[in-house]
Amino acid sequence: MTDLYPVDPAFASQARISGEDYQRDYQTSVRDPEAFWKQAAQRLDWYKAPTRIKNVSYDLDDFRIRWFEDGELNASVNCLDRQLEKRGDKTALLFEPDSPDAASYPVTYRELYERTCRLANALRALGVQKGDRVTIYMPMIPDAAVAMLACARIGAIHSVVFGGFAPNSIADRVADCGSKLIITADEGLRGGRKIPLKANVDAALKLPGTNSVETVLVVRHTGGAVDMQMPRDRWFDAVVEGQPAECEPERMNAEDPLFILYTSGSTGKPKGVLHTTGGYLLYAAYTHEAVFDLREDDVYWCTADVGWVTGHSYIVYGPLANGATALMFEGVPNYPDMSRFWQVIDKHQVTLFYTAPTAIRALMREGEEPVKKTSRKSLRLLGSVGEPINPEAWRWYYEVVGDSRCPIVDTWWQTETGGIMITPLAGAIALKPGSATLPFYGVQPALVDANGEVLEGATEGNLVLLDSWPGQMRSVYGDHQRFIDTYFRTYPGTYFTGDGCRRDEDGYYWITGRVDDVINVSGHRIGTAEVESALVAHPKVAEAAVVGFPHDIKGQGIYAYVTLKAGEAPGDDLVKELVAWVRKEIGPIATPDHLQWAPGLPKTRSGKIMRRILRKIAENAPDQLGDTSTLADPGVVDSLVSERKVK
Ligand code: PRX
Repeated sequence: MTDLYPVDPAFASQARISGEDYQRDYQTSVRDPEAFWKQAAQRLDWYKAPTRIKNVSYDLDDFRIRWFEDGELNASVNCLDRQLEKRGDKTALLFEPDSPDAASYPVTYRELYERTCRLANALRALGVQKGDRVTIYMPMIPDAAVAMLACARIGAIHSVVFGGFAPNSIADRVADCGSKLIITADEGLRGGRKIPLKANVDAALKLPGTNSVETVLVVRHTGGAVDMQMPRDRWFDAVVEGQPAECEPERMNAEDPLFILYTSGSTGKPKGVLHTTGGYLLYAAYTHEAVFDLREDDVYWCTADVGWVTGHSYIVYGPLANGATALMFEGVPNYPDMSRFWQVIDKHQVTLFYTAPTAIRALMREGEEPVKKTSRKSLRLLGSVGEPINPEAWRWYYEVVGDSRCPIVDTWWQTETGGIMITPLAGAIALKPGSATLPFYGVQPALVDANGEVLEGATEGNLVLLDSWPGQMRSVYGDHQRFIDTYFRTYPGTYFTGDGCRRDEDGYYWITGRVDDVINVSGHRIGTAEVESALVAHPKVAEAAVVGFPHDIKGQGIYAYVTLKAGEAPGDDLVKELVAWVRKEIGPIATPDHLQWAPGLPKTRSGKIMRRILRKIAENAPDQLGDTSTLADPGVVDSLVSERKVK
């Protein structure tokens, strides 16, 4: 029997949404989405309020997803201008630097507005126009948000690339969307180490396909030395200086693109997930307010990086559209010591805290002492995102971090969904450790079997969504067909999430993880195909196959099987060399945890690699290999099992 944590009556008595509200409004939202979302759209400021609310067909021959299609608005106006009257002096972003010895500081809504306007004017002066793409490769500093909002203000489409990605990954993303301009910083700081952001951009721009970039704006952050290549490279301070602190916003149609964010899929290179202005912003703002039970005086902290969708929706767009105070942290949980998160919570009196299971598991391993020496009295709600949270980590988060006082919202969603989809609402829904519980308004999950048959009742299957919601991605940038093929062809008439899921007797959803070739490492998505193509790009590698395996801290780790070219000798030095190679090609998040030499890979007679078998070997479950009779050479499996790396 699973534990049930009933809704806390004290929390519920103050909460925005009660159990009754949820039941009633959820029913309305799926019975009459037009009425529900027309009403919800009023939470944004529109130049022209939408009259056409939803225009969606998942029919492959007549495919369209449009929300609020005749509405007009500007996202930066919703996040900034409209806050000025009531909240001009309120802290919009509260910056906490990497080192606790450096100064933290607030950025008010008025300052954020002015900084955004100055940059927006500067971008226009540099020739950036509506529809142009701008790549943002930044540390976690307020200027990252300024950069995003300035793009939104002039209708440029931003593509934020996580600061941990290597030059190759930057170049791929710049080339794919043809960015005209890059905004970066001299260096970033993480755990006392410097990250050479500008140098990485320089290296990326030497790679093929990046000629579209005309200008690189460089924020002076650490003051470290960088090469400035004139006239391409410009200091950020110099170009914004003298620009007016007001900037006429671009009037955007609700369906005009707001941003591209690259994410890994089963095959090929990462795809540019495209989100549009009206539906995305509305969905991010609504979910942020509802799921975190936001109040005017909350200090809200999401530990994600703006390079991921969580940072887009729940550090920048959602919180700012709601006039909230969001903490922005440049550092890491274990620097200078294992207490840092909790010290920051005390220092800034954080009330709402949103982090990833991988961080919780890593901190849990250090015991209670680093937590217990802090107060954390300010906290009133905790959140989890990015991967399934195991019940043990959930309980530790609840009991030790939250002192059994704070409800936990385990929020399931994806880059593609734009915002939270399945989640408890703390005043409305009883919690079960490890379950994301019930769908948010307008979200219609279903479980299907391999043939696409919808399964009823308590069961397990592939998670699909039966209808659209405003925050849904609209396309893969530059490849609309790939969008349709990836998400709508597997189970026709539905959006396929790529996740497996169980539903229990109370109708609660339990995400079991990806069912495709995507690995979720510490809450970050890595495509097996990306790691494989990095490995085979090494001159000594003939073939590679990469799978995920269960990892105590990271959730999943990366396990690589490598076949060397004839004449190449395997050895520990070459293992190190190949691991370093992948880090250099993609970035540290793609570092293989284990690399096993494979004289041969298990393949079908038609030459297809049987990953199912490789996964079982990596999991150390050689007794569950299943049917190997279709293999071209079954002997390959025996040798891989006997040579297996992880004990
Ligand atoms: O497998 C699910 C997992 O993360 C995937 C989405 O990754 P990404 O697009 O990078 O977005 C992460 C932040 C929203 C999903 O397909 N995932 C995300 N949240 C949860 C989760 N798995 C279980 N429980 C969650 N709360």
